[in-house]
Amino acid sequence: MTIQKFNNIHPLRFGDLSIWPPFAAAPMAGYTDAVFRDIQREFGCPLCFTEMVSAKGIIQHNHNTLSLLRHSETDKPLAVQVFGEDPEDMFQAVQIIGNLEFSFEAIDINMGCPARKVTCQGAGGALLKDVSRAVEIVEAVKDAASVPVSVKMRTGWDSHERACDIANRLAEAGADMLTVHGRTVSQGFSGTSDWSVISNIASSVDIPVVGNGDVKLPEQGLLHLEKGSCSGIMVGRGILGNPFFWRHLNQVLQGAIVNLPDNRERLEAARNHLGRGVEFYGPDKGLVCMKKHLGFYVKGMKGASKIREIIHRASSVDDLMMALEEFGVLQ
Ligand SMILES: Cc1cc2nc3c(=O)[nH]c(=O)nc-3n(C[C@H](O)[C@H](O)[C@H](O)COP(=O)(O)O)c2cc1C
Repeated sequence: MTIQKFNNIHPLRFGDLSIWPPFAAAPMAGYTDAVFRDIQREFGCPLCFTEMVSAKGIIQHNHNTLSLLRHSETDKPLAVQVFGEDPEDMFQAVQIIGNLEFSFEAIDINMGCPARKVTCQGAGGALLKDVSRAVEIVEAVKDAASVPVSVKMRTGWDSHERACDIANRLAEAGADMLTVHGRTVSQGFSGTSDWSVISNIASSVDIPVVGNGDVKLPEQGLLHLEKGSCSGIMVGRGILGNPFFWRHLNQVLQGAIVNLPDNRERLEAARNHLGRGVEFYGPDKGLVCMKKHLGFYVKGMKGASKIREIIHRASSVDDLMMALEEFGVLQ
């Protein structure tokens, strides 16, 4: 896929933020922690979101919830994603966030999570079934926030039918930007993201819309932008074990030769991620947290399923490092 010229690609502007290139790393619970985000930044990622954090957890000063908000000074601009079903909780949580020692450049409201433990409380994707409540939440968060507010939504609960109507209601309530994952909540991750619905939403609201779903290569995202489907692109699974996405994107935009990573570079990045994870979390939690990332770095390599099994069974960080090193020699 080759795109020679980019006539229709502009910085993503919302609130006082201007994001170039107009791409973002998606929030992914259990994956997009401070370590992951720092690595994406080093490869050129222009905008990150925290994984979703519970409004109730923030209000209750839950240690685990608050620890998800830690980030480095170079992890900027950063949006914090909050989920909750109660407008008053959301208001309070955002006020607390505003007074923390670390700052955020935007607040993002989760209206897409399909996980039962979230939707059964009426939060996440369930808000798309209760648009009046979703509107109240946006209004409450806008009242509490001193930074731009965005909403990350899917196209509906079990049908795309009301997608434009919902998006308009959220925009009227004060959302400064919408990110739309082009699947319904009921779809989970089945089927494909429907970019025609994303495009329809983008042309029906007067705030920027970031499109999301199934973008694996920078060129795919750039094509959506070139076609005018949306103002920005969010990438999730395509960057797991692949921070090289950002280097690739920036090289394409600069018209430079794309420097794709070979297996040696990918394994070096995996070891770097592991080392930094262990430094951040300590050896026990670090081992557990990093194992799930490593499987993505080795995807598609010769003997990947065997090394995945070894990673899964490893009982110490040293074992893991050694396994990756030995695997590297075979590549
Ligand atoms: C493991 C995992 C965790 C996720 N956690 C969140 C989350 O915390 N908040 C959210 O809004 N979306 C979450 N998502 C959804 C992604 O942000 C994104 O919308 C989805 O993966 C589709 O984009 P992709 O095809 O580029 O992966 C998660 C997805 C995955 C795979």
